[in-house]
Amino acid sequence: MTFNGKAVFDGKAVVVTGGGTGIGRTTARGFAEQGARVLVVGRTAARLADTAEGLRGILPLALDIADPDAPATIVDTAVREFGRLDVLVNNAGVVRDSAGAQEMVATNLLAPLRLAEAARPHLAETNGVIVNVSTSIGQRGWPMPGGALYAALKSALESLTRSWAVQFAPDVRVVAVAPGPIATPIGLHQGLTPEQNAALKEALVAHVPLKRIGQPEEVAFWITQLARPEAAYTTGVVLPVDGGAVVG
Ligand SMILES: NC(=O)c1ccc[n+]([C@@H]2O[C@H](COP(=O)([O-])OP(=O)(O)OC[C@H]3O[C@@H](n4cnc5c(N)ncnc54)[C@H](OP(=O)(O)O)[C@@H]3O)[C@@H](O)[C@H]2O)c1
Repeated sequence: MTFNGKAVFDGKAVVVTGGGTGIGRTTARGFAEQGARVLVVGRTAARLADTAEGLRGILPLALDIADPDAPATIVDTAVREFGRLDVLVNNAGVVRDSAGAQEMVATNLLAPLRLAEAARPHLAETNGVIVNVSTSIGQRGWPMPGGALYAALKSALESLTRSWAVQFAPDVRVVAVAPGPIATPIGLHQGLTPEQNAALKEALVAHVPLKRIGQPEEVAFWITQLARPEAAYTTGVVLPVDGGAVVG
């Protein structure tokens, strides 16, 4: 994909959290294929190496974003290695039951909060963008055990998106995408068996008017689109990418 005859993100620097699998991996590779240098962050080095495979623009950084020091390390690494920061994608997220509530709060809410604060001055220098990854479930109730806190934290991330869009303007844009059920390993990472995972996806698809699971590429497409220069007048929005789940 090109813009004015060159790759849109040539010379741009991007951070993608949770870039070792799923939506984050596809997003990181999408930015790199369009010219960006991308710092991919996750806890599992082997997954990050798979994301970087065959793409010179991708730099892996293995750490836990729930560590209070991690956001500063991530931003410092990106700026040191790339000399700038243009896009922060707050993508990493986990689904846990109430025994894992603290991990979920630290990963899904506090880490994006600290990352946004650490990245803001650097993004302001480049008129950069924060893209937060929410969920269509954040806008409705979730009947599955453990889902209520997950949904609440995503609702909070959407609220932060709107507040930051106002507070960080005019230098930094802040947007979010809200995917419906997407074909990623998130259920397996949650500890579901393959059978439980398939049953969960089937139950979620019942609420999707388009009657299918989405693909990571269908979410990564919008994350990269929202970071493009043509999207420069768009901030504070949460874009559903959910097969119509929110309106169905
Ligand atoms: N798939 C869906 O149906 C769906 C729907 C709506 C929204 N979402 C959202 O989309 C985002 C991406 O999820 P996904 O579906 O692509 O699932 P995924 O494949 O499980 O991706 C999540 C990634 O985050 C990383 N991660 C988790 N905790 C981390 C931590 N503390 N520090 C660093 N990295 C961490 C995981 O890697 P490591 O375990 O190796 O660290 C993993 O690669 C999440 O925010 C999720 O809530 C997903």
